[in-house]
Amino acid sequence: MTAAFPKALPHHGRVRLTPIADLDTSAWRRVAAHFRDPEIAFLNGTPPNRMPLWLLRRVLRADARRRDRATFGILDERSDYIGTVELYDIRPHEATLGIIIGERSHWNHGYGPEAIACILTIAFDELDLERVKLHTYADNPRAQAAFRKIGFRELRRVPAPGGRVDVQMDLSRAVWTDRAWLGAVPLPPLAGPPPAEARAAESLTREEVGDGGT
Ligand SMILES: CC(C)(COP(=O)(O)OP(=O)(O)OC[C@H]1O[C@@H](n2cnc3c(N)ncnc32)[C@H](O)[C@@H]1OP(=O)(O)O)[C@@H](O)C(=O)NCCC(=O)NCCS
Repeated sequence: MTAAFPKALPHHGRVRLTPIADLDTSAWRRVAAHFRDPEIAFLNGTPPNRMPLWLLRRVLRADARRRDRATFGILDERSDYIGTVELYDIRPHEATLGIIIGERSHWNHGYGPEAIACILTIAFDELDLERVKLHTYADNPRAQAAFRKIGFRELRRVPAPGGRVDVQMDLSRAVWTDRAWLGAVPLPPLAGPPPAEARAAESLTREEVGDGGT
């Protein structure tokens, strides 16, 4: 399998995705600022990035060419770069989602779920995956709320380095397909997983779900 580029770059609501390779210089300055930002680094569980811009650009562009990754810049309704969304560790049936809306002005305004909707279209319609999973931290309630809105369910919480708690979530093709109408309209505030999904999540064991993400 390959993380080939989508046939048409998806858009949802105010957001559209663009290949990392197509970002302009001002966008790359924002990428560097986002990766250097200590709060964003903490939320993402990585150290602040200290690479010079030219090196960061080279590394991220090389990463984006990997066959097990699909990485995109997120553009808002003004075509301004606001962050990055990606699928990584792409396997035959599943992949892991990562997202950073780096522009604080765009937090809590629904841009995250719109960008996630875009990349889920690639995951399920083009890569034909059965499941997308993710990791976030218990001390990042905004991220958990955003992921739940788009249909992710919590699987489990496990201790993480630094005394933090890793919250593992996933979204199945079936749940996404049920919400395929999301592609046509702005995202409404979804109320979390339906009861059947929630019961299924409670009964899942670690072995049944697997744990290949980071
Ligand atoms: C996490 C992220 C993708 C979410 O996207 P977003 O567009 O900001 O999210 P939304 O606006 O759709 O939803 C956020 C929800 O969290 C809620 N929220 C915000 N802060 C909260 C808090 N401290 N406690 C509880 N809920 C909170 C908001 O009210 C909103 O819910 P609502 O729409 O029902 O009012 C984005 O904020 C981001 O990238 N942040 C920085 C990096 C990061 O945390 N990445 C994720 C790493 S796993």
